[in-house]
Amino acid sequence: MRKNMADYRIGILPGDGTGREVALEAQRILDTIEQHTNQGFEQTVIQCGGQHYLETGEEWAEGSFDFCREDVDALYLGAIGYPGATLPNGDLAGGSVILGLRSGLDLYANLRPIKLYEGVPHKVHGKFTQIWQPGLVDMTILRENTEGLYHSLLRRSADRAMGRPPYEPPEMTFPGLKGEVAYDPRPISEHGSERLIRMGFEIAETRDGAPIDGQKRVSCIDKSNVTRGCQLFRRTFDKVATDYPGTELDYGYIDAFTQWLTRSPESYDVVVTSNMFGDIATDLGAVLQGGMGMAASGNIGDDHAFFEPVHGSAPKYAGMNKVNPIASINSIQLMMNWLGRKNNDDELTVIGSLIDESVADHLRDGKGLTYDLGGDASCSSVGESIAARLATKLQNTF
Ligand code: IPM
Ligand code: MG
Repeated sequence: MRKNMADYRIGILPGDGTGREVALEAQRILDTIEQHTNQGFEQTVIQCGGQHYLETGEEWAEGSFDFCREDVDALYLGAIGYPGATLPNGDLAGGSVILGLRSGLDLYANLRPIKLYEGVPHKVHGKFTQIWQPGLVDMTILRENTEGLYHSLLRRSADRAMGRPPYEPPEMTFPGLKGEVAYDPRPISEHGSERLIRMGFEIAETRDGAPIDGQKRVSCIDKSNVTRGCQLFRRTFDKVATDYPGTELDYGYIDAFTQWLTRSPESYDVVVTSNMFGDIATDLGAVLQGGMGMAASGNIGDDHAFFEPVHGSAPKYAGMNKVNPIASINSIQLMMNWLGRKNNDDELTVIGSLIDESVADHLRDGKGLTYDLGGDASCSSVGESIAARLATKLQNTF
């Protein structure tokens, strides 16, 4: 048990729209842990985002990036993006936060687990369809998070967050094209690929393999029949893989992968892919776990990390206490796992598992589901129910 140790410092970035509501449920989980264990969380809330930009003229208060880099142990982010919130240069307002932190803190891996809990209908037919069998959908997609098609925008956003002159990619000419041309270079580096892919293999070591056969498997998803960046990514995959002889290697092109992901999700264990492909594939993957309301993520580097629900700010539901808080709550689960590993604090890892069990119990019970899962429960009532279950488990464990 930690005693007389400084609390973990957690930065809370609620962001836009319903991000502000689900952030409260993330905080409720942190409060619950604090009440029932020796763990302490010093929470600092930083208002930010596109909506904040429209309200105040700035994406976040000056000094916020430095605070996130220097003065926290982990960050939580609600959601970024608001209708009409665009910067004068056309970039996403709020980008300093989500993209500035990804690039500026070198958070090179976007960890996106996709797991279908018992009691949750998947969304493949757009209806509520029950297909749950133990472990039918249980994989982790690792999306490269600092380069690829996002590279220029990431750099510009980080430059803005750090008060540096904005990066612009070099002028290029494109033979055969007429009229105005806009382009985003897609650089992929060996270093950026290697560290992401290595993390994928390391994660596979900690998992029980793919649901279909229990085989540890890492899938390299790219478009190496077409792009040079993907050819480098795949070559790097093969090089890293030689360090993990017990892991099965799997390859797919992103277009074919979208079919296989929906047709046979049970064959996937860990998937590594580049930035934009991962952005797209994880929204598709969320359909297999009951929708975006269930999709949690971690943006992870060697020294820093922030955790966020994958869903956006859903402005049309803002202020209605209606959206599903489970993606947000499970992002705290990922935060506990990361903090636990980083600080050799096994208690946090146990707490992470207890959050998972609390969510699973709530969903198995089937009462109190939000609209996206076919119920009419409120965001806060789901948060309260999961927090109450967690409190009991923490009391019984610590
Ligand atoms: C995500 C989001 C972001 C992205 C947006 C909000 C910039 O879609 O985290 O997946 O494109 O990465
Ligand atoms: Mg996305």
